[in-house]
Amino acid sequence: MIVVTGATGQLGRLVVRNLLDLVAADQIAVLVRDPARATHPAEHGIEVRVADHDVPASLADAFQAGDRVLLISGNQFGARRAQHDAVIDAAKAADVTLLAYTSILGGPDTRFVVADDHHATERAIEGSGLPFSFLRNGWYTENYTAQLPTVLEHGAVVGTAAPGSRLATATRNDYAAAAAAVLAGNGHENTVYELSGDEAWSLHEYATEVSRQSGQDITYRQIPAAEYRQMLAGSGLPEAMIDVFLETEDAIERGELATVTGDLRRLIGRPSTSLAEVIRDQMKACTDPAV
Ligand SMILES: NC(=O)c1ccc[n+]([C@@H]2O[C@H](COP(=O)([O-])OP(=O)(O)OC[C@H]3O[C@@H](n4cnc5c(N)ncnc54)[C@H](OP(=O)(O)O)[C@@H]3O)[C@@H](O)[C@H]2O)c1
Repeated sequence: MIVVTGATGQLGRLVVRNLLDLVAADQIAVLVRDPARATHPAEHGIEVRVADHDVPASLADAFQAGDRVLLISGNQFGARRAQHDAVIDAAKAADVTLLAYTSILGGPDTRFVVADDHHATERAIEGSGLPFSFLRNGWYTENYTAQLPTVLEHGAVVGTAAPGSRLATATRNDYAAAAAAVLAGNGHENTVYELSGDEAWSLHEYATEVSRQSGQDITYRQIPAAEYRQMLAGSGLPEAMIDVFLETEDAIERGELATVTGDLRRLIGRPSTSLAEVIRDQMKACTDPAV
C-alpha cells in the first residue's frame, strides 16, 4: 500500500490525484488527523487511516509492513521536528519498504531557518535504516502567484531580496507528480532528488511578466528589512513567521532556491509548468472566480 500523510493539505491532495493516474485506488491509503476532511479520497475508495503526528500513540497502527510511505513535512515550525520523528518511529516499527520525505532544495547546502527541520528529519530517516527517498522540493510558484491580487492592486511585487535574485520554482502539482512517480515506481530506494523548475526566473522578470499579461505597469520594489517587517506585521502575520519570511528573502538573494538540476523534469516525464503559465491561470482566477 502507498500511504500519503498530510493528504488533506494542498500538496498531499495533489499527490493523491496524481497517484490515481498511476495505481488503483485500493493500492492507496491516506493518513489524516481529521477524516471529515478526507472526503475526496474516501469517495474514490481510498483507505483513510487516522493519526495525529502530535500524538505518537495514535500512529501505532498507521503503517503496515510493506507500505511505501510519503511523509509530507509539517507546517508548524517548532513542532514539526517532533512530529516527523513520531512518523519515522512508526514507519520503522512497521518496517515499511520506502519512506519518502518532502525535504528542501539543496539539502544541507541550504542554510536558512526553514531548512533546519528538513536537515534534522533527513538525518533521522537515515538513522532509522529504512529505505528512503528525499524529495528536496524547491519553492512553490504559487508562493508568488497566490499574491497576484495584491500585486495588481498595488502595482508592485515587494521584497527585500535584490531584483536580480533568481528562483527555480515549480508548481505544487509538479512536485506532487514527482512524489507520485517515486511512490508508484521502482528503484527509488536510497535516492535524493533535487526538485525544481526547469528555468530559474528573477524577481524583476516576474514583475515584467505580470506587467505583460495584465497590461498594468508592475515593478519589483526592493525595500529595507524594517519596512518589509512592518508591512508583514500589518497583514497580521505573527512575529515568528515574519522572521522566517525575512530569512527566506536572504536565502533567495543568496541563490539558495535557484538550483536547476532537471531531476523534477526527469521524474515527471514532462517539462515543469512555466511561470508564465501559472500567472496566466491565476490571472484568469482573479478576473473570473468561477474558473
Ligand atoms: N516548497 C514550498 O514553497 C513550501 C511552502 C510552504 C510549505 N512547504 C512545506 O510543504 C508542506 C506541504 O505543503 P502544503 O502546501 O501542502 O501545506 P498545507 O496545505 O499546510 O498542508 C500541511 C498538511 O500537514 C498536515 N498536518 C499538520 N500538522 C499535522 C499533525 N499534527 N498531524 C497530522 N497531519 C498534520 C495538515 O493536516 P490538516 O489538513 O488536518 O491541517 C495538512 O494536511 C508544508 O507543510 C511545509 O512543510 C513548502
